Amino acid sequence: LGNGLANTPQMGWNSWNFFGCDIDEKVIKETADALISTGLANLGYTYVNIDDCWSMPSRDSDGQLVPDPKTFPSGIKALADYVHSEGLKLGIYSDAGDFTCQKRPGSLKHEYDDAALFASWGVDYLKYDNCFNLGIEPEERYPPMRDAINATGHTIFYSLCEWGVNDPALWAGKIGNSWRTTNDINDSWASMTEIVDINDNWAAYAGPGGWNDPDMLEVGNGGMTYQEYRAHFSIWALMKSPLLIGCDVRNMNAETFEILSNEEVIAVNQDPLGVQGRKVLAYGPDGCYQIWAGPLSGQRLVVALWNRCSKTATITAKWPSLGLESSFIVSVRDLWKHEFVSQNSKSSFSAQVDAHACEMYIFTPTMETRSAT
Ligand code: DGJ
Repeated sequence: LGNGLANTPQMGWNSWNFFGCDIDEKVIKETADALISTGLANLGYTYVNIDDCWSMPSRDSDGQLVPDPKTFPSGIKALADYVHSEGLKLGIYSDAGDFTCQKRPGSLKHEYDDAALFASWGVDYLKYDNCFNLGIEPEERYPPMRDAINATGHTIFYSLCEWGVNDPALWAGKIGNSWRTTNDINDSWASMTEIVDINDNWAAYAGPGGWNDPDMLEVGNGGMTYQEYRAHFSIWALMKSPLLIGCDVRNMNAETFEILSNEEVIAVNQDPLGVQGRKVLAYGPDGCYQIWAGPLSGQRLVVALWNRCSKTATITAKWPSLGLESSFIVSVRDLWKHEFVSQNSKSSFSAQVDAHACEMYIFTPTMETRSAT
């Protein structure tokens, strides 16, 4: 796309997963405040994104979109000013169809008006949904909004939400800063793991400027266990997915905050090399002992040992499966324990991993056995 954005995956918050249509300017402001007061903004969560349901069911007599005066009485410009005054960015939502999924007016055939309006409000991010699309292919419906955004001269992150229709990884890199690879996530282990496996197929197409989007985080919404949420967050980070928080950050418990604020895991996601990690091995019953890995800057590797079985197991990563020479000596840092668990692992590394848990490490090859002896 070449708008200079998305050198690393976007980070922030979005209203949909927790609030659905039950949003107003108070929630958005309080969320921005909470991102600041909790320290999450400082860790990189800077986009505050309004999803569906912010606008009136019809355009005004000039054909313009209108924020719902009951829920957004001050208007979106005032909200953008507020969010900007805190050093954050504001995101908005529309749809590449006649209507949004919740029956607000869509932007199909109104791309230039709507992009100009969003730019005049100072909006920094657009999520562009796929409902009521008249059966027109997404490859046709998404570029006009890119062109309209570019024509405003205002820099706006362009997030395609085409639900994975027509394998967007193959065509969306020239259109948007990220593209959804799947249908909507829901707050369950089954949904999260299904989405991970689909998103993994498109790893080769992600990189600085354009990322696969396996949908927003459900961490903190209550449908998964602590270990499952940790796995969700770990794998999203490793897959270089957008890290868009989907819970109520005004009321997070300590476990939710611990997960979302893990700086070492966030650093994996934001690593400048920008290579999406992959499932490199699945073995054991139904392939549920899994090794996920990918390269990081500085000749390092991120490695996750993920137990998708329902019983505790020992999972072993052997160097060749990670693309390392068997002779390498590796220091292993545990990103959830925040400590080095080994300084001199040779040829393989094993850990006992609880059911559904995902242990995550940075491997730094230090020297070869041959030169050490
Ligand atoms: C479908 C999208 O995939 C969701 O993320 C959300 O934006 C809803 N539409 C809103 O209606």
